[in-house]
Amino acid sequence: MKNITKDVYYVGVNDHDIDLFEGQYIVPNGMAYNSYVIVDEKVAIIDTVDKNFTSQWLNNVKEALAGKTPDYLIVQHMEPDHSANIVNLINEYPNIQVVGNAKTFDMIKNFFGDSISFSKLEVKNNDTLSLGAHNLTFIFAPMVHWPEVMVSYDSLDKILFSADAFGKFGALDVDEDWACEARRYYFGIVGKYGAQVQMLLKKVAALDVKTICPLHGPILDKDLEYYVNKYDIWSSYNVESEGVMIAYTSVYGNTKKAAEYLKDKLLALGCAKVVFCDLAREDMAEAVEDGFRYGKLVLATTTYNGEIFPFMKTFVDHLVERGYTNRTIGIIENGSWAPMAAKYIKAMMEKLKNITWLDQVVTIKSAMNKENEKQLDLMAQELLK
Ligand code: FEO
Repeated sequence: MKNITKDVYYVGVNDHDIDLFEGQYIVPNGMAYNSYVIVDEKVAIIDTVDKNFTSQWLNNVKEALAGKTPDYLIVQHMEPDHSANIVNLINEYPNIQVVGNAKTFDMIKNFFGDSISFSKLEVKNNDTLSLGAHNLTFIFAPMVHWPEVMVSYDSLDKILFSADAFGKFGALDVDEDWACEARRYYFGIVGKYGAQVQMLLKKVAALDVKTICPLHGPILDKDLEYYVNKYDIWSSYNVESEGVMIAYTSVYGNTKKAAEYLKDKLLALGCAKVVFCDLAREDMAEAVEDGFRYGKLVLATTTYNGEIFPFMKTFVDHLVERGYTNRTIGIIENGSWAPMAAKYIKAMMEKLKNITWLDQVVTIKSAMNKENEKQLDLMAQELLK
């Protein structure tokens, strides 16, 4: 437990036991589930934490309450990493009022059954709740990252409680760069919903925000422009960094050799940054993050069962389902008897908007030959045009 301002307390927990966050993301530095308490004439708790931290969280809450009884539990997001302890809190404080919107209460019923009885305070978009000196405004942020999500703005301390927005992977007792794990988190978890994040950013721009309190990752109270700018770039699908990503799969090393040839050529021609990614061995979420970070992407893969190699198929799927756009893409395909990869990838990506395909497709039959080297030279030049 710690103070954020005089009346606002952090009561979240760090999770270093988790193997995969949301069942799929590796989190080498763990995960934080943030929760907050505002102690005013009325006392509000903002969100709960993951099911594995019930007693630690309830103790944190008790410490912040210092003998007071909470009046409200504000439920901003019903994903279980934040909602798992709603019923445990109600059991501990039976008179607490649960604040949510119509979708929140539907989800509470779906997760916990309809036999639990509790007092509800249903809010609409932009409704306010006065705690005394602190006035909270609830701003709906559907699909950032679920439909019921709302963020809360405290006009006294100028705090935006931002739900999943501005969150990142990593526990709070580990010091690490914000952008790296926030970007991986964003594109993994919220990346499909750029338009909805843009809508939220527009609403936030109208507020005077001094501190952002997300449900994951550190509390942001300095240089907020930096974080908002990153979110603006990511959610508008703009290019964040200059450079080329070469994402490849290789069975016996021949496709990798061609990808390496292209990498060396690009660097020799002065390319500022080449990200070289073996999709079978690197973290897929990291690869997806880099796919969105840079403006130019080369996909190098083998034909496999008449399609493409599995890790490449997964990677392209991730890009497509998140609305990959505004990018230049080149293809290096390898096939020993019937190369199909370029055709297959283009079909997978045909509905994407604002994609520029490189003229030069490199087709390798088993192993790179002199003609392929010439084609890769041309591809490098085209990428740097
Ligand atoms: Fe952190 Fe969408 O839950």
